[in-house]
Amino acid sequence: RNGISMASVPSLSASLQQRVSAALAAAVPSAVDADPLLRRSDRADFQANGVLGLAKRAKANPRELAAAVLAALPTDEVVGQVEVSGPGFLNISVPDAAITANLSLRAADDRLGVPEKAAPGITVIDYAQPNVAKEMHVGHLRSSVIGDAIAKILEFEGEQVVRRHHIGDWGTQFGMMIQYLLEHPHALDHTEGSDADAGEASMSRLDRLYKSARTLFDADEAFKDRSRRRVVDLQAGDPETLATWQRFVDESKIYFFSVYDKLDIEIADADIVGESGYNDMLVETCELLEKSGVAVRSEGALCVFFDDIKGKDGDPVPLIVRKSDGGFGYAATDLSAIRNRTGDLHATTLLYVVDVRQSLHFKMVFETARRAGWLTDGVVARHLPFGTVLGADGKPFKTRAGASVKLEDLLDEAVDRATAVVREKGEKIGLSEQEIVDNGRQVGIGAVKYADLSTSLGRDYIFDLDRMVSLNGDTSVYLQYAYARTRSIFRKAGPDQRPVAHPELALEPAERALGLHLDAFGDALAEVAESYEPHRLASYLFQLASLFTTFYELCPVLTADGGPAQVENRLLLCELTGRTLSKGLQLLGIRSPERL
Ligand code: ARG
Repeated sequence: RNGISMASVPSLSASLQQRVSAALAAAVPSAVDADPLLRRSDRADFQANGVLGLAKRAKANPRELAAAVLAALPTDEVVGQVEVSGPGFLNISVPDAAITANLSLRAADDRLGVPEKAAPGITVIDYAQPNVAKEMHVGHLRSSVIGDAIAKILEFEGEQVVRRHHIGDWGTQFGMMIQYLLEHPHALDHTEGSDADAGEASMSRLDRLYKSARTLFDADEAFKDRSRRRVVDLQAGDPETLATWQRFVDESKIYFFSVYDKLDIEIADADIVGESGYNDMLVETCELLEKSGVAVRSEGALCVFFDDIKGKDGDPVPLIVRKSDGGFGYAATDLSAIRNRTGDLHATTLLYVVDVRQSLHFKMVFETARRAGWLTDGVVARHLPFGTVLGADGKPFKTRAGASVKLEDLLDEAVDRATAVVREKGEKIGLSEQEIVDNGRQVGIGAVKYADLSTSLGRDYIFDLDRMVSLNGDTSVYLQYAYARTRSIFRKAGPDQRPVAHPELALEPAERALGLHLDAFGDALAEVAESYEPHRLASYLFQLASLFTTFYELCPVLTADGGPAQVENRLLLCELTGRTLSKGLQLLGIRSPERL
């Protein structure tokens, strides 16, 4: 913004809501740790419901207690009007000047007055974990989009974030593919002039090899045997076998990176630590579990049992750490990863953005790690389960032919639809072809991400492109248009305008509503970071865009009747709205085009 770098203003950690809360607490010293339960309200700016609970505890009459609190409250620069209402609520309004003054402090701060955590921890977040030699599907989309947003939000709050992409790059299925490639050395070679896209080309070569290997595996007993022996070689670290396995990983990464590039999600190679990365720890993990008695042998397998986890027949369902044939499973890897993340990376929080269908797995893995002492009381481990993406028919998303839908095809279609929407308006406002193409991408990818992020994590949602790119309703396009509108106002006002606040001017209701909402950005973010629920940020931003739309309809900005001071006050609202929208969208991984 104009190349001026502004310092953070730490004193601006308090929103008006927090300051009113503090004033309430000060007015009733006996209630210092009682929550005043302050909420935004339609009747006044805020309503405090906390008096009711307090009166109950003190066996006092709530209305009388409310009146006493009212008498003790200072009417000062944050607390304007107070009245007792209903059975003992306090309706509190803040003066216009307090709103404008707070907004002006936010505008002067690079972080929009959002404080950084006083005591940041280390969060290791496990997300974006596709599988080697397999096509990515919509489930991988959810993990990637949600994980990326949560990581960014936590980082903005000051948390130290370590990203881990636990890709499926190990296991018996590689025996067959490696064996096939060794016997057919050209099976992964490029075919001429087929796919233009390098990522898609890699995937189709992998897919072709996988299918050929599978066919042979099912038809030829001798090949089956050779493949099984190849798994043993892989686990033993035989160099030729490992080198061939590495080719599958490298080829797959070309594909992953091309999809993530399309998705506009940055993935660092160093953060890709797949299942294979914990291979050296597996034996020790099992030994430690067995020695401590956390795991026991059962029918040849190494198992952990739980009192509260039983199958339909009432028999206990164990976590199998090592199979009876000596092979290590998914659980052994995850337990080793926990040892690495707490022991070596010193994580204080572990997050796993993974499909809800793996809930039982994580429940058992966390419990096992607690018993083994790898997860101590000081460490939080959370599975953040997400629901399924459904097709228009309400069933898990499939193509008409019944195959699972290719993620890239879906993204391409979203971009095509968005480009058509953008083109229509863009041609009217004179956008160049390049701008239309760029915006189409940002709007299309944003729409897919927003649809995912605006649904609460655990819920299934229907993948409906028509709705996603609609200009009206709870969509990213609506938010992006609101942002672009604030930019267009500044293009008219003169882009170097730095509006100065005029707290002495009275505010219209639409200005107050917008101003109070802007003031609550930090509070909303803190809630999102605490709950790991990005949909709350999406809904905060949608509300912001709606309040801005109302403000813009009712309050002329550049032609305000109140003269230049009022123009500046309104420009300040536009500026903060724009910066808050684009910051919020950025935290969700969504871009905000300047002209739309
Ligand atoms: N690769 C797995 C899948 O596609 C997800 C891995 C989740 N992370 C973990 N630490 N288990 O289902």
